[in-house]
Amino acid sequence: MNSHVFAPMRATVLDNIRESEGIFTLRLQLSDPQHRASYQFMPGQFNMLYLYGVGEVPISIVSDPQDPGVIDHTIRSVGRVTRGLAKLEAGAEVGLRGPFGQGWPMALARNKDLLIVTGGLGCAPVVAAINFALKRKAYYETINIVQGVKHSDDLIWRRQYEAWQALEGVEVFLAADQSGPGWPFHTGLITELLGQVTVDLKNTLAMVCGPEGMMHAVAESLLQQGLSAYSLYLSMERNMQCAVGHCGHCQMGADFICKDGPVFAYPDIRDRLLLAGV
Ligand SMILES: Cc1cc2nc3c(=O)[nH]c(=O)nc-3n(C[C@H](O)[C@H](O)[C@H](O)COP(=O)(O)OP(=O)(O)OC[C@H]3O[C@@H](n4cnc5c(N)ncnc54)[C@H](O)[C@@H]3O)c2cc1C
Ligand code: FES
Repeated sequence: MNSHVFAPMRATVLDNIRESEGIFTLRLQLSDPQHRASYQFMPGQFNMLYLYGVGEVPISIVSDPQDPGVIDHTIRSVGRVTRGLAKLEAGAEVGLRGPFGQGWPMALARNKDLLIVTGGLGCAPVVAAINFALKRKAYYETINIVQGVKHSDDLIWRRQYEAWQALEGVEVFLAADQSGPGWPFHTGLITELLGQVTVDLKNTLAMVCGPEGMMHAVAESLLQQGLSAYSLYLSMERNMQCAVGHCGHCQMGADFICKDGPVFAYPDIRDRLLLAGV
């Protein structure tokens, strides 16, 4: 982290990789060698990316912490800043503040079954955790990835899921609420798939990311099946501005998502999920 948390460091675009319609991976390198040498992050943390003259947005880091010289962000173009970032080519510069927030408890998951459940159009915060665990497979008993989408056409990175499924010790489960022709996976709610996952829930750490309704349903289903609440972690999303707990934009009850989260143990956030206005 640079000494002044509000002053963005300069970062150079090394590559802008098109993942699918509207989704791209921005590969960045901090321009100043001193910033590069001191930069460190953990899976689940995020950076504030500043498109000069337009604005700043929080984006999860998806690359491996062992190589902080190259920092990848997978981004969906939805608005002013993300559409602008999508147009950047190699050699362009952006501002970068970070890393911010509490990441996934990768160390707590050691010697356990790792269960990663995501809902929506591919969930960047857990991609970092999956890649981290795959590179260190000996530390985890099994790695189970469960992904649900509204419609089968919404699934991005299908080849990525197939590649993960082909690895020893890795199981991938895919569900679509509604499916079109040629969808060989489960049709129905993601919670219906959880019973098929063969993990030892007494020795499992679960990471969940997606819309709040989905996270709540998945969490309650896993608890009912015997997972301990303190073995369950969720990644929350809110609008952010300062990213360091000053401006109040991301406040959720007593916590600031930017600094106390975005990853929370379930018992610490359970009472505020789905509550309007917190
Ligand atoms: C901790 C954290 C980590 C995040 N990590 C990632 C990441 O890794 N990759 C990524 O793509 N995004 C991520 N986001 C979301 C991202 O910050 C927002 O999509 C971004 O701020 C949008 O900015 P914009 O200026 O492009 O769009 P805006 O101009 O702010 O919004 C344009 C329109 O898009 C809608 N919109 C905004 N965000 C979203 C969204 N997430 N989904 C659907 N519609 C939206 C708005 O409601 C608005 O109608 C993260 C957010 C948080 C809080
Ligand atoms: S973004 Fe300002 S308090 Fe969290």
